[in-house]
Amino acid sequence: MQPMDTRPDLKPEIDFRDLLKRPGKLFGYSYFYFLIILTGLGISYVGNLTVIGKNAVPAVVLKDSSAFVADIPFQSPATLPPVDVMKAAVPTSDMIERGKELYRANCSSCHGENGGGDGPAGVVMNPKPRDFRAIAGWTNGSKVSQIYTTLQEGIIKNGMASYSYLPPADRFAMIHYVRTFATGQPIDTPEELQALEAIYQLSRGMSRPGQIPVKKALQTVISEHESSVRRIAQMAEETTTAMSEGAEVFNRVVRDRTKVLAAFTYAGPAVTDLEQFVKMVSSGPVELGFSADVVQLSATEWSMLLRYIRETRTRGGA
Ligand code: HEC
Repeated sequence: MQPMDTRPDLKPEIDFRDLLKRPGKLFGYSYFYFLIILTGLGISYVGNLTVIGKNAVPAVVLKDSSAFVADIPFQSPATLPPVDVMKAAVPTSDMIERGKELYRANCSSCHGENGGGDGPAGVVMNPKPRDFRAIAGWTNGSKVSQIYTTLQEGIIKNGMASYSYLPPADRFAMIHYVRTFATGQPIDTPEELQALEAIYQLSRGMSRPGQIPVKKALQTVISEHESSVRRIAQMAEETTTAMSEGAEVFNRVVRDRTKVLAAFTYAGPAVTDLEQFVKMVSSGPVELGFSADVVQLSATEWSMLLRYIRETRTRGGA
């Protein structure tokens, strides 16, 4: 007997020398691990399919832009009280207080809380919004009458809008607040103030047209149409119980009563010509609310259908 036979079998389970000769075998040994890894990846893939299917970069979520754009406020038509320019040109602490509030609401986005012309909205502007802390270099000037002109007319080419829609008294309040950012402001001569009065007729008051918010206007338009919508729904209801040959044909070929009635009664033109009616319906039965097999109606049925629709239209008072 050879010694090999008596010794316990120490041949390793994996013969690495053999593996080097036949590397294909390696796969046989590691196959099980691959299987586990692949299964793991597969499960995670399926689990994340919704994410993988989408763009890998998360989409920018845009909020409804109506949230950014404030609606215009309710405003009843009004005659704004006349302003005595001579009086309005003299600042009072009440005016400055009120001016500060109005400035924060209307102007600070560009001109900055502290009047430095450094508001967030003004950053990209050229020229920059006026720095109210400086006295020199103004386009129109910082006298009361000059700022009033700026607010009335705007300096459109430079990005300063007109605020002519604000009541004159509010504008004077803002003017006085704006002038507090610098000391040594120039003073208007009486002639300059009189000229302001002469140009803008401030002592006459100002009439302001009424306005309603866009949202409210839309609601009004919609509610005005509600009655016809309701009428069509009522007509549709009536057709379900009508007992005539025409009604029978109608109920057989109509899928969406409201659509058909809207097209041929309220909104639509009065169709009287049979040939025209058949052509209209056949050109797009489904869009008009008919079932597709309406085209298979006999000539008699077509005319019964048209007559029934016309009767319904008349009954509906359309
Ligand atoms: C959209 C940005 C913006 C807003 C909002 C804005 N302004 Fe201006 N404003 C400007 C710019 C830009 C100028 C510079 C115009 C120029 O240099 O001619 C300016 C200039 C001015 C001037 C100086 C005019 C001159 O003679 O140089 C005054 C006064 C003024 N704004 C007042 C106001 C007041 C008051 C408000 C609020 C009711 C306001 N602005 C709101 C952008 C803005």
